[in-house]
Amino acid sequence: MCGIVGYIGTENVKDILLKGLEKLEYRGYDSAGLAIVDESDDVQVVKEKGRIATLRAEAEEVKPVGTSGIGHTRWATHGAPSARNAHPHQSTNRRFTLVHNGVIENFESLKADYLSDVELESDTDTEVVIQMIERFVDEGEEVDIAFRRVLSLLKGSYAIALLDGEADDRIYVGKNKSPLLVGMAEDANVIASDSMAMLHITKTFVELMDEEVVTVTRNGIWIQDLEGHVIERETFTAELDESDMEKGTYAHYMLKEIDEQPFVIRNIIQKYQDDDNEIKLSDDIRAALNGADRLYIIAAGTSYHAGLVGKEMMEKAAGKPTEVHIASEFLYNQPLLSRNPLFIFISQSGETADCRGVLVNVKEAGHPSLTITNVPGSTLSREADYTLHTYAGPEIAVASTKAYTAQMAVLAVLAMDSARAAFGDTEFDAIYELSIAANAMEVLCDAKDDMEQIARDYLFETRNAFFIGRSFDYHVVQEGALKLKEISYIQAEGFAGGELKHGTIALIEDGTPVIAVVTQENVELNTRGNLQEVVARGAHPCVVSMEGCHREDDQVVIPSVHPYLTPLVSVVPLQLISYYAALHHGCDVDKPRNLAKSVTVE
Ligand code: F6R
Repeated sequence: MCGIVGYIGTENVKDILLKGLEKLEYRGYDSAGLAIVDESDDVQVVKEKGRIATLRAEAEEVKPVGTSGIGHTRWATHGAPSARNAHPHQSTNRRFTLVHNGVIENFESLKADYLSDVELESDTDTEVVIQMIERFVDEGEEVDIAFRRVLSLLKGSYAIALLDGEADDRIYVGKNKSPLLVGMAEDANVIASDSMAMLHITKTFVELMDEEVVTVTRNGIWIQDLEGHVIERETFTAELDESDMEKGTYAHYMLKEIDEQPFVIRNIIQKYQDDDNEIKLSDDIRAALNGADRLYIIAAGTSYHAGLVGKEMMEKAAGKPTEVHIASEFLYNQPLLSRNPLFIFISQSGETADCRGVLVNVKEAGHPSLTITNVPGSTLSREADYTLHTYAGPEIAVASTKAYTAQMAVLAVLAMDSARAAFGDTEFDAIYELSIAANAMEVLCDAKDDMEQIARDYLFETRNAFFIGRSFDYHVVQEGALKLKEISYIQAEGFAGGELKHGTIALIEDGTPVIAVVTQENVELNTRGNLQEVVARGAHPCVVSMEGCHREDDQVVIPSVHPYLTPLVSVVPLQLISYYAALHHGCDVDKPRNLAKSVTVE
């Protein structure tokens, strides 16, 4: 969470930083700020509570002009969202200016040990960093040495960019656990939490590792470790295109990304199939999968919901024992492990701190790891032994849609491959079945008017909604409920159909919407029976069923697909009705309140 950018070159920096921050707004949007070294070498700071648009308007007013600067968009951790807590922060005598992404866990003890006489100007964990740098420099240390010394005293995560008002030819940056890249262009160098923020300047980047610092000037970059040893690093070219990040004619990224899902699934089919129509996987990944006696899927939020479906596919198609764990729970409450586990991390962003915490422990324990991610150069991808790419293209809307279906598609491919390895052959032809699923998704994407009508009938007037399903449908209703609540703020929960009567049914009142997903023949009648139980208590029922287990008055009937792949298809109406409900309630669909796309704090 939080995004940082920086530029040092020959162009006027203000628009470069603002454009970069707009691309990073998905990382948090509680407040935003800029610091620009102006023509008289003074550092001008503009910061505002709220979105980048507010900052842009304010920056127009004060017109800071200069060719180097840093910027920040914030997701508040310590200290309320306010202009006072917005970054950049400055030291008391205003010599140093800094932006930070991450959490300084020991900020209170640092304050007590080094800054007991200093009156802090904000409620953040960040400010101690800048005040300590100033203190050490005042005591006679060189700035770069003071910077490294302070970083070595920090516990927690940080990506930091620092301006020194007395040396306008450089920006100091440092990183630990939070993502940070340095980009190189002609006559300019940049920094960014994510390459997409600076694609308008360069596609050539250098990755930073934990506990490294970089001095970035107009002509070059110098990477060092915290002891000051110089480090050489190759550059890489970002494979993204600026146009991948545009909304086109869509009103919202979320709607665009929902519509992209059939294409994404076809893309995955192509990427994971070789010329002989066999599954394309590296021998190493195959060996890791087949050598494991149990898979441990670790993920959060929507990715966790994809993992739940992955477990079903792995166990049912390939007979592979699989557990799925919420990363933040696993991190501090690890279950007993099998003898030869393989850890599979599922993460759209590849940056989720809860997952990363588990990965660090897993590596320390010497267990093999595989990351399934939409961002191949991300932290989880770099640090796991193996990576599989979901090829969904940048997902900008905070609510995940196409990444979820892409994750399940990749898991289906893995399940089929594992089934082949285990049994010699399998009747689950994931590649063929995914192409059928992609066609079915397209049918539902084309039924937007019907979905809007369902949202109108069920969700425009309600403050709460329940979703029920069994087996695969249970997993997808959990995702449907998450989508609805996170973007429309309607309280929604997804339950196993049989579980309502054990407590939750007490909440059903006249008119309470209950949305049932019914795609699995073996439990069709059970779920329908559970629906009758809530209807008898006044619920307003809506059924999303699949051809073959549908009834005439069901509100949505999805085309028939393989039972393991129904979540890829049945989620589409759930995504769309959530979208229309959120629109009706006037919510910011792409940037729901209190959330951020990439959750880099625990
Ligand atoms: C919900 C959503 C989140 C993410 C979760 C994990 O729409 O997007 O629940 O799924 O924060 O993020 P990743 O997949 O990036 O690890």
